[in-house]
Amino acid sequence: MTSSTPEQPLGGWLGLNDRTCVITGAGGDIGAEIARQLVDAGARVALLDRNEERLATVLAGLQDTSDKAMAVPCDVTSAASVQAAADKVQAAWGGTALLVNNAASLYADAVMDIALDKWNQLLAVNLSGYLTCAQVFGRQMIARGGGAMVHIASISGSVPQPYSGAYSVSKAGVKMLSQLLAVELGEQGVRSNVVSPAMIRTQMSEVIYKDPAVRLRREQIVPAGRISTPADIASAVLFLASDRASYISGQEILVDGGLTQAWLSLIPRPGFQKEDAAASVA
Ligand SMILES: NC(=O)c1ccc[n+]([C@@H]2O[C@H](COP(=O)([O-])OP(=O)(O)OC[C@H]3O[C@@H](n4cnc5c(N)ncnc54)[C@H](O)[C@@H]3O)[C@@H](O)[C@H]2O)c1
Repeated sequence: MTSSTPEQPLGGWLGLNDRTCVITGAGGDIGAEIARQLVDAGARVALLDRNEERLATVLAGLQDTSDKAMAVPCDVTSAASVQAAADKVQAAWGGTALLVNNAASLYADAVMDIALDKWNQLLAVNLSGYLTCAQVFGRQMIARGGGAMVHIASISGSVPQPYSGAYSVSKAGVKMLSQLLAVELGEQGVRSNVVSPAMIRTQMSEVIYKDPAVRLRREQIVPAGRISTPADIASAVLFLASDRASYISGQEILVDGGLTQAWLSLIPRPGFQKEDAAASVA
């Protein structure tokens, strides 16, 4: 049981003070917010991304953290690049206690049109990249007596997201990969869990939300009545990473504002319809 300290009250409660944490895709909006919350909780954070410019921007946005954060350029599709990043983290701060597998990409394509090389390219980042990082950083966790992995999937790993190439398939694979890791690494003290976001406005999804009509329609559909933020996702990640979740493994938290529970409210029936009510006040 950990206790709070005046310096790091949140970190004390979560037990994340001075933990060595690695976030892939940390140059993106969700990864950057996870990094910010982990630093606030007193953790040491290695920011991995293949985009060095984005990494520099995120690092610059973290205040007074020269001994708490470092940028490590890394391409998760290259085992050599991931191993080099892991060696750098180990040399600076010791073995990794937390891995947040988050780096991913997305492109639009109908299933019947997907070219095999594009399918394989996406899976190389979104699924095989998660495996490589789990293996490389998982070895460090085993060596230090345990750790936690949190993999960012998506609600599209549970319900099909059409016209998105291999994206849904990759996220479904991430969920099963996490469950396998939970079972195979449990005895070595490593937990593995998934956070599945839904609709968040980030650089990845900007193309969707820059159309105000689409944004409004989405806000009307989700029970929470708003689009999600990176902070919503980061909070769930920190909980699963923390000592507060020490008996939780192989699980998934959907951070979706209730969206995946709302299907029946979209089925037309006589009488009240949520979208009619929303339209009348718009
Ligand atoms: N934005 C959404 O609406 C949404 C919804 C559900 C799930 N997600 C998931 O959340 C996670 C973060 O998404 P985001 O919206 O912040 O995306 P983003 O595009 O803003 O960030 C992704 C980051 O990953 C990096 N990256 C891509 N390929 C890489 C590689 N091979 N090696 C290293 N880094 C690489 C990119 O450079 C980028 O900085 C992803 O796993 C995504 O699938 C996002």
